[in-house]
Amino acid sequence: MLGNSAAARGVRYEREHMCNAPANSSIGWRDPGWIFHSVMKNLNGGVRYYYQVGSDSKGWSEIHSFIARDVYAEETIAFMFGDMGCATPYTTFIRTQDESISTVKWILRDIEALGDKPALVSHIGDISYARGYSWVWDEFFAQIEPIASRVPYHVCIGNHEYDFPTQPWKPDWGTYGNDGGGECGVPYSLKFNMPGNSSEPTGTKAPPTRNLYYSYDMGSVHFLYISTETNFLKGGSQYEFIKRDLESVNREKTPFIVVQGHRPMYTTSNEVRDAMIRQKMVEHLEPLFVENNVTLALWGHVHRYERFCPISNNTCGKQWRGSPVHLVIGMGGQDWQPIWQPRPNHPGLPIFPQPEQSMYRRGEFGYTRLVANKEKLTVSFVGNHDGEVHDTVEMLASGEVISGSREDTVKTVPASAAAALVGKSESNVLWYVKGAGLMVIGVLLGFVMGFFTRGKKGSSSDNRWIPVKNEET
Ligand SMILES: [Fe+2]
Repeated sequence: MLGNSAAARGVRYEREHMCNAPANSSIGWRDPGWIFHSVMKNLNGGVRYYYQVGSDSKGWSEIHSFIARDVYAEETIAFMFGDMGCATPYTTFIRTQDESISTVKWILRDIEALGDKPALVSHIGDISYARGYSWVWDEFFAQIEPIASRVPYHVCIGNHEYDFPTQPWKPDWGTYGNDGGGECGVPYSLKFNMPGNSSEPTGTKAPPTRNLYYSYDMGSVHFLYISTETNFLKGGSQYEFIKRDLESVNREKTPFIVVQGHRPMYTTSNEVRDAMIRQKMVEHLEPLFVENNVTLALWGHVHRYERFCPISNNTCGKQWRGSPVHLVIGMGGQDWQPIWQPRPNHPGLPIFPQPEQSMYRRGEFGYTRLVANKEKLTVSFVGNHDGEVHDTVEMLASGEVISGSREDTVKTVPASAAAALVGKSESNVLWYVKGAGLMVIGVLLGFVMGFFTRGKKGSSSDNRWIPVKNEET
């Protein structure tokens, strides 16, 4: 059955290529051995291929299979998230991400349910969280093998793969520190083999950084991956690539463009450290997204799920043409994260008010699922706690954005859009009308009762915030 073979190219890196501790220290370093890359060519799109890896002298792996990428597929399916990390089957002294077990489990469930349909995975930075502890990469690849052996596993570079004190592009306004644990992008560049030939020198003994920016088509979607850790400013080679790439998309063939990168252009989390990076992204990259009608921009780094309105210059637009929909999808598994932005001092507001640009946000682990055909691109947020969809946004080829899950829709979406979402079924629409009627009566009753109750309480509380009492106070 396994009639053909493709030669593999072996690469490796050395301890002296690491840029800092712990990656180059005795505790962090473990020889990575050889990393083998092999490319199978002339595959027929949409066909299942069986394969195994190894050699006669060293032995062979078990047989795996995958569906070859179909550029002309009717339907495009992707599973996307950032900041996942991995779990170790033993206790270790570094922080690991147990929640990643659920993320992999649910995605595997979805892939198995697809049968013979092709799909892809996007992990948009902060990948293994090895941060210089070499063995963590091995645990990570073992953990993702059930999915990565079946579907393409695409990646973006994140701060935890790359950032190091002497990195060549380090503008004053940046907050690029030492988050890579001294790996300076080397394991990332050698262990993955993404399309394209983007490359930046590291400025050290380490080999150049690869897999920075690239793109490809799948079905009705043009996917573009970018690096927020290396120069993205106007005039740089990445900027030129992005510009050329976006301008050359054939919208007849791929009506939708999805851009993915690690650090967000928009977030309502209290991530103040990166405010200048966001500002520079808005200044330099957003105009390219807006002018070229990018449909959707996906970011990680903030370990939460957040969906924005179609947005440009921090202002909500009416449709994705000219105002791409932005999603933060850094909820793959890493747990620590900033709180939402607290309110400015307006006691009448919630402590962490949700700005109007933020349509839905949640502190919950999970991943997003993208399904697209020529007419419509749908993204859903699946929560790890139950494996169910908790938020959905639909982007039509016409430019229309239909926001939110059903319960969300009733609250936030104009009536016309809500009617479109519930579809052609008249009984559904009627059900909504009845429901809305009941809700109005409920609100009125609540208001009247609230009025009397408030009257009874009088002004003793006087709208002041009462501190929460605890043992200390
Ligand atoms: Fe990050």
